[in-house]
Amino acid sequence: MPPRPYVLLSCATSADGYLDDATPRRLILSGPADLDRVDEVRAGCDAILVGAQTVRADDPRLLIRDPRRRARRAARGLPAHPARVTLTATGDLDPRARFFTPGALRLVYCATRALPLAAELKDSAVLIDAGDPLSLGFLLSDLAERGVARLLVEGGARVLGDFLAAGRADELDLAVAPFFVADPAAPRLDLPGPGPDGPMTLAETRRVGEVALLRYLLGPGGPDHRFLRWAVELSRLCPPSDSAFSVGAVVVGEDGEVLATGFSREQEEHDHAEEVALRKLGRDPRLRHATIYSSLVPCGARASRPVTCVGHIVAAGIPRVVFAWREPRLFTDGEGAEQLRAAGVAVTELPGLADRARSVNAHLVSSTP
Ligand SMILES: NC(=O)c1ccc[n+]([C@@H]2O[C@H](COP(=O)([O-])OP(=O)(O)OC[C@H]3O[C@@H](n4cnc5c(N)ncnc54)[C@H](OP(=O)(O)O)[C@@H]3O)[C@@H](O)[C@H]2O)c1
Repeated sequence: MPPRPYVLLSCATSADGYLDDATPRRLILSGPADLDRVDEVRAGCDAILVGAQTVRADDPRLLIRDPRRRARRAARGLPAHPARVTLTATGDLDPRARFFTPGALRLVYCATRALPLAAELKDSAVLIDAGDPLSLGFLLSDLAERGVARLLVEGGARVLGDFLAAGRADELDLAVAPFFVADPAAPRLDLPGPGPDGPMTLAETRRVGEVALLRYLLGPGGPDHRFLRWAVELSRLCPPSDSAFSVGAVVVGEDGEVLATGFSREQEEHDHAEEVALRKLGRDPRLRHATIYSSLVPCGARASRPVTCVGHIVAAGIPRVVFAWREPRLFTDGEGAEQLRAAGVAVTELPGLADRARSVNAHLVSSTP
């Protein structure tokens, strides 16, 4: 397993950045279309984390609502619902809260000194000593050891701020509602410390019903690392296969705009990720200045179709490729990186992300490169 999960922060705010109003009733910021989008995001995660105050104030269910999404998870051998995770420094949680409803694994990370107070949760959840003070680093490595590769953090304000300030977030999906709260007493998306180094990388803007969705990528290494990490995450969406790799690809224009994404078998059975992303774009002149990010080096030999991904990239005129993982000699012995370089394409390998890309294909390859 990678040392820590991919951490996706997700929240809805008012136009002035508030996560709720100051009344006891929960403020509805998202409409049905956005709730459905969040349901899809949840279905792609191994665990959902909320702070203890959100458990107390909102009593969320944290379930996948759409039965087709639950069935899709089951077909991949996953539990119908992601694990539910919370963290507390006081241990003040009611075992009757919906968080503790059976049907999904429940994990409570508790500061050491509050463990005696939280003891009554032992029958309703796995109670984990997370140190004193509670350590987010420990929480994340413990989740990774429990098989959580993708963690969705849904709030509230303190938790989102803590993950951002600690530099432990890879992505922020921000749904901005078309109204103001304008009440300084209400919780808002805020940072307790200096926050991420430099600007976040904007990967998507989308209208979802009445809200504007902004998808930001964060984390160390700047845009190259961030887009490549995202490509690795896309590879988790691939329909499973015992005879082909699961790969994700992102095509980014000269100005940083994401032009297309793709993943293996996204549209047809033998699809490669880069091929799908390029098919979505057709003959687009922006490709002549674009970079393609791929979790696996583009293929230079291929059994399933006549044109390799190297061939597609060269034909599209893409001048730059960034990849994480060199193809093990399993299905073909194509030297994709060398072929690209020979064709005049600039190739950057980021081997620090190879383990993550490989772990998605763990059923095909041993843990050695
Ligand atoms: N709009 C949205 O998308 C959205 C989503 C979720 C929540 N919300 C709103 O956010 C509000 C709740 O936010 P909040 O900031 O009050 O609470 P919160 O972030 O949900 O939970 C904070 C609590 O979690 C525990 N905690 C968090 N970080 C910790 C750390 N590093 N170490 C130890 N314990 C930690 C503590 O629990 P203990 O107090 O038990 O020690 C802390 O009081 C509610 O109004 C809710 O409706 C909005």
